This record gives sequence, structure tokens and C-alpha cells, in this order.
Amino acid sequence: MTTAAIPYVGSTMDRIEGPEKVTGRARYAFEHSPQDLAYAVPVPATIARGEVRSIDIDAVVQLPGVIAAIWHGNAPRLSTPENAELAVLQSPRVAYRGQYIAVVVAETLQDAREAARRLRVEYDAEPHDVELRVDHPGMYRPDQVNPFYPTDTEMGDPDSAFAAAPIVVDATYSTPAEHNNPMEPHATVALWDGDGLTLYDSTQGASTIRDTLAPLFGLPPENLRVISPHVGGGFGSKINPMPSVVVAALAAKQVGRPVKLSVTRQQMFAVTGYRTPTIQRVRLGADADGRLTTIVHEAFEQSSRIYEFAEQTTTPTRVMYAAPNRRTSHRLVRLDVPTPTYMRAPGEAPGMFALESAMDELAVAGKIDPVELRIRNEPAADPESGLPFSSRNLVACLREGARRFGWADRDPAPGVRRRGRWLIGTGVASSTYPTYRRPSQASARCDPDGMFTVRIAASDIGTGARTALTQIAADTLRTSPGRVRVEIGDSAMPSAIMAGGSMGTASWGTAVVRACQSLAEELDRRYGEVPAAGLETSADTTEEIDAQQRFSRHAFGAQFAEVAVDSDSGETRVLRLLGGFAAGRIINPKTARSQFIGGMTMGLSMALLEESIMDDEFGDYLNHDFAQYHIAACADVRDIDAFWIEEDDPHLNPMGSKGVGEIGIVGTAAAVANAVYHATGVRIRDLPITLDKLV
Ligand code: MOS
Repeated sequence: MTTAAIPYVGSTMDRIEGPEKVTGRARYAFEHSPQDLAYAVPVPATIARGEVRSIDIDAVVQLPGVIAAIWHGNAPRLSTPENAELAVLQSPRVAYRGQYIAVVVAETLQDAREAARRLRVEYDAEPHDVELRVDHPGMYRPDQVNPFYPTDTEMGDPDSAFAAAPIVVDATYSTPAEHNNPMEPHATVALWDGDGLTLYDSTQGASTIRDTLAPLFGLPPENLRVISPHVGGGFGSKINPMPSVVVAALAAKQVGRPVKLSVTRQQMFAVTGYRTPTIQRVRLGADADGRLTTIVHEAFEQSSRIYEFAEQTTTPTRVMYAAPNRRTSHRLVRLDVPTPTYMRAPGEAPGMFALESAMDELAVAGKIDPVELRIRNEPAADPESGLPFSSRNLVACLREGARRFGWADRDPAPGVRRRGRWLIGTGVASSTYPTYRRPSQASARCDPDGMFTVRIAASDIGTGARTALTQIAADTLRTSPGRVRVEIGDSAMPSAIMAGGSMGTASWGTAVVRACQSLAEELDRRYGEVPAAGLETSADTTEEIDAQQRFSRHAFGAQFAEVAVDSDSGETRVLRLLGGFAAGRIINPKTARSQFIGGMTMGLSMALLEESIMDDEFGDYLNHDFAQYHIAACADVRDIDAFWIEEDDPHLNPMGSKGVGEIGIVGTAAAVANAVYHATGVRIRDLPITLDKLV
């Protein structure tokens, strides 16, 4: 397919469901209210490790409006899931503080809350261990890291090369736990009809929820329907089912009525996942010209006792820069903590904070401009796999970014630019994110009203995916977007990969193109015949994706930051952020730009604010609300902009697109930290950059 044939892809289009959303007609999971509805409120454990000895169920079922109180002593039995987080109310064990140990179902939300609050629970508490340390005796080497990467890689002799290098950096960086906080919390309305279960659920993937939960409840997949046309964000925490959706389904089964459940904001800090804290040691060695001879990146992180989630923290280091000697590794310790999950650019975001901070330290040590240092270490092919890049335009992003940002006359001396009390500095960092694509199915149909209907169990979590798919379908059908209805967010539609890994639009778009191509061909073949209405085609992209050529496929970018640091208080403000990205063809400039600057905003938030604070003695994260867990707000974001380098990459998918959802957060925190160093001469290696670390 040539560019000329696809006029809508590449042009700005407003979100199709925008009017529905701003007028309140778009209905989210919690807004569904079937007849005879009851409300469920889960009860979190108040110990970090041990067993539930008893729960006084009888006392609360007497309370007004209470229908049932469910705990492991009376809960319906579930099949054993692969992820033990989903074996909700199946055993007396408590694996972390906040884990659900009971659920109260009542006629109203107020009744359920009050009864849940009054539930008396007795525990046999055991000593807990929640402290992530590099020398933890439980530290081990997982078999692989998410989703299927080797745990460790090694080439050449990185240690000897480091010992011999004239310019070196050896530094340890740390990033805190951060909690995914989409605007819409996890919510479910569960409805049983005999052996059929319907879930209105806030999820990033209806097909994934169906496929994971059906076996848990002993159902054939076709008996479980997941409906989620509108989702208010997820950032990775709604990729896999969380305990809340299981509790809702289980409670509805127990009481024989539809049940509604929303995770509270406070509970989101325990049961919906988070970004693992990391400790990372980076060693870089370079020759006198700044050419890297060795790169060593070691990550230490945590998972829970009940499930191994191994974040792929050092995987970006495997593709970024040329160096003949290199090593990356991941080590994990299982603690009495909730299970971490995906959070926007899991791996890349914390990993590139460490690598790109270390690159800045190398630039300082070698007295080389940090933009030039990165350009000098540009590899000709993927440095570890040896595969050719399908396209790689990091250098173009760095050069064009430097030009637009006004980098050219930068004085590298730290701590010398003042504007009144404020110290001013600038910093740069690279970004990268892998370009994935997974099999999906789609259908396309001619309707009697002259419209085309395209169906796929895709998920629009606020990204604009529905709109992008409409543009893609319109181009393939050689019609206008106004004549295409894209229906998504229902597991009864053709199965699709979830909205995650920045691969939604690439994966779904491929299936939509193939289904629409078949329909267009069929219509051409039948030209002149009537009627076309009812004609339907479908596509499954498994074979196409399995057969694709091997390439190293990644998006790249460059982030530039200007900061001001108050020389008395250490208060840091990001004055300017500019991101330049090379992410294939941009399908919709308006929604893509929102993804880029949204990711960058989350990166700013990671740099300066976000931090879940573990209290070792209490055994839990202490900050459980927005008063204490800070997220960048409008006033924190001043001048922010993104641009892109158009790529024409034929090795990706029919649209030529790479993902745009995650790369915007990658590198931002390092660019800010590097700018803070330039402003103050103080190197902050531990996020977030709070004023106590600067004064
Ligand atoms: Mo993203 S963390 O893969 O939703």
C-alpha cells in the first residue's frame, strides 16, 4: 500500500467519541445499573503477612441492608489461577497488607461500606519483610523478564574493558515504587445469567479478561462476556485482571444478583499493581573520544510472595548504544508486598533514567557535549542481536531537537546560570520503546444504511484508538471516516490483543486493514450486483505476523529539558520540555501529540513528584491518596511540546506505524535530572528529585 492511497491516515481527526464523553453520554463500567443491583465493598487485610484466623460474619449480616459477607470460609471455589493474586478469598493466607480478605454485599454502597468497616477480623500475624536491598539474601535470578526477554545478556569482556577505559562512570541509581492512577479506578458490574457471566469492566483488553477469568470460574470462554466501550485510562494496571474483578464476579455468584464494585482510590495503592522500585548500577567505559567500550547495567527489583513479576528494566540498554563489551542483568526478591505490574513503559522508564543519567555523567567526565556523545555511539545495527533496525532515527531526533531547543551555545559548566534566586540548567536524554505487533481478529460489513461496520475487541483507554482505527478503515475501504462505524470494547467481537505495550493500534490496525481489504475486494468482484448490504468479511493476522521478517523494531526519541532550581529552598521547576520522536508514520497528529506530551508529563511527574513510600515496620506503602502521593498537575507543566521525524518503514505493518503511547515517558526523568545537575552541580541519582536532596 502506498502513502498516496491512504489520505485519512496522517491527517488530524478529532476523537469520534469526544462529544459523547464531554456530554456524559459515554458510559463507563460503574455507570451500568442492571435491575436488582447490589453493591460490593471489599475488605483489605490489616497485616502484612500471616493468616486470617476468624471473621465475625454473623455480626455484620445483621446490619441494615447487608445481603452477604464472604470470606474464604464461605466463598465459592475457583480453579487455581496462574497468578495467585486472582485466587481471591480462597485461603486464609495474607501475602501483603491491603490484600482482599473479605467482601460485603449490601443493598446500597453506604450499607456495604459501613458493614465492611465494622467487620471484625482476627489474624495470626507473622513477621514481614518488605525492604528491597541489593544484598537481600532472597535476591535471585528469574528465568526471564517481561514479557519473554532473557534475564541476562553478556558480550565480550565488560569487566576488563571497564578496568582499561580512560573515561569511566560507575554509579548507582534508584527509582521508587510508583502507583498507576488512571482517572477512572478499576470498576466492575458483574451479572450472572445461569452459566453465563457478563462483566462491565474497566479494562485495557476485553479478550484478555475473558480468557483469563473464564477458566477461573470453570466457564467456556463463550459464556463470559466482557464489555468496556469506554475506559478512563489504565497506564498498564488494567492489562491483566486484578483481584477486584474476581471479587465482583464471585460476590454476584454468591448472592445471585448483579453486583457493582469500584476500587477506591485508597485501595488502588494496594490491589491494582504498581511500578516496582528499582536499584540499578550502571558502569560505562569509553575511550578518550567518548566512544563506549563497555556498558554494564544491573537492576535489582521486587515482586510479591505470590506471583513473579519481573520488570524488564535493563532491556533498553541492549539496543541503545554501540559497545563491544556489555552486560545487562536483572535480579529479583520476593517480599511481603503487593505484586507489581505494568506501568507506562515498564522497564524502559526506570531503566533509561539510569542509563541516560550515566550517559550525562560520562559526557561530564569526558568533557563532551551530551548530544554529541550520544551521536558518537550510534550503532549500525542492533548492538546485541546484530539484526538490522527496521528504521532508527535517534540521531535525527537529537539533531532536530537540539536545533529547536536552542542547544547550540550551551555552556556545559554547572551551577553558573542565575535568574534571581533561580539556578537555570538544561539537559538531554534519549528515549526508546520497542515496536511490537500481536495477532488480532477483525470483521468488516456493509450495512443497509450505506455505512460500513468494523468490529474488533480493541480498547480505547483514552488514547484515540477508536478514531485511528476509523481512519485506517476508511482509507482501506476507499471511503470517508463518516461512513465507517468502528465498534470496539466487547469480548463478543473478534478477539484482539489488549491496549498495552504501545502495540494496540499496530496490532488492531493490521487486522482492520486485512478485513477491510477483503471486503473491498469482494465488493469490487461483485460490482453491479445488488444488494451488498449484509456482506461481511473477517481477518485473523496470526499467520501474517508469525511470518514477518526478523528486524530490530523500535521507536526512538530525544528529550530536552530546561529547569530552574531555587538556590535557597531547592524547589525545582521544569520550565521547558521538548520531545522529538521517530515513531513510524503518525496516524493522527492530534491524538499522537497528546500521547507524546502526556507521556512526557508523566515523566516530569516521575522526575519531581511520584513516590510511594514503604514503611518497613508497618509493612506497606504509607501514602494512599492524592494528598500524599503527588502527580504533576497543570501548574507543574509549563512549556511542553513534541515534534516527530516522519519515518517510512516498510517492515512494520500496513500503516507503517510504531507505537506512541509509552515512548513519551522514557528519558524524561533523566533529561530533568541532567538539567538539574547543569543548573546546580548536584547529581541526583535517586528519584524523585525532591528539595531535601538538593539543599
Ligand atoms: Mo502499557 S504499561 O503496556 O499499558
